[in-house]
Amino acid sequence: MKKNKVAIVGTGMVGMSYAYSMLNQGTCEELVLIDLNKKKAEGEAIDLNHGLSFAPRKMKITAGEYSDCSDAYIVCITAGATQVEGETRLDLLHKNTKIMKSIINEIKKSGFSGILLVATNPVDIMTYVCWKLSGYEKSKVIGSGTTLDSARLRYTLGERLDVNPKDINSYVMGEHGDSQFVAWSYALSGVQPIYQIASRNNSKIDFDDLEQIEDEVRNIAYKIIECKKSTYYGIGMALTKITTAILENENSVLTVSSYLNGEYNQNDVYIAVPSIVNKDGVREVIHLALENTEKTKLNNSIRIMKENINKLDI
Ligand code: 2OP
Repeated sequence: MKKNKVAIVGTGMVGMSYAYSMLNQGTCEELVLIDLNKKKAEGEAIDLNHGLSFAPRKMKITAGEYSDCSDAYIVCITAGATQVEGETRLDLLHKNTKIMKSIINEIKKSGFSGILLVATNPVDIMTYVCWKLSGYEKSKVIGSGTTLDSARLRYTLGERLDVNPKDINSYVMGEHGDSQFVAWSYALSGVQPIYQIASRNNSKIDFDDLEQIEDEVRNIAYKIIECKKSTYYGIGMALTKITTAILENENSVLTVSSYLNGEYNQNDVYIAVPSIVNKDGVREVIHLALENTEKTKLNNSIRIMKENINKLDI
């Protein structure tokens, strides 16, 4: 296996935003673009190669086949139908399960033995589907989960508090979708609990604002879809961060979609919870002692995931 090779399945806007972001950040040494539409992948590879003179490192970028996954360290699946206006992520369930079936079949045939990163929506369920169909280790199949939603939260809180979003340590947990929630009891701005900031007089935010921010983060993808049909830069950068955490063995804390094996008293489900990500995939699921209201929200997300998984023939 090559330590620094990434393959992307799907060269739509998400796949290509991810590729472009990796090129700009010098995330890997070798990048293969795979798409049913080979011409599209070929054109994208040529276009990206023309940026190499301006990139921070050398990178081998090619259009390839599923057989090229054989020695990749990471294969990231971005292919599939995306939401149109009026649809939820869960509405893509059956369409995208069908697509995952054919993709996993091809990836398995290649002999791939690295880390599978899933971005296709509904991502928590598609990650479960990919794990189940592939038979790969649980910790080596990861979904992008709420990595993007947590970044949206950090941005929004950062704006409101006038603090660098990198210093906002707050996480969105649960479904990457309508039942997600913010673990406010663990939210910090730098070293200050957000609850403490909100309860002060004359603070920049109060408890009503927290509710409004949580709603805004949950619904912002709908607004983007209404304005420009789909979302891709944010998820492209979130996938780049997860990729770096893996390739650089960072042990980064990210709200990826992880398999629960007793954590949060739950089993046999993929859901977004803070997890430590390194060269082995999810090294550890962080089991937070959530408040009762937060526990109820997490259990609700998990119930929705399981109900939908039960509808599938996998
Ligand atoms: C997003 O949250 C639609 O899942 C996509 O941007």
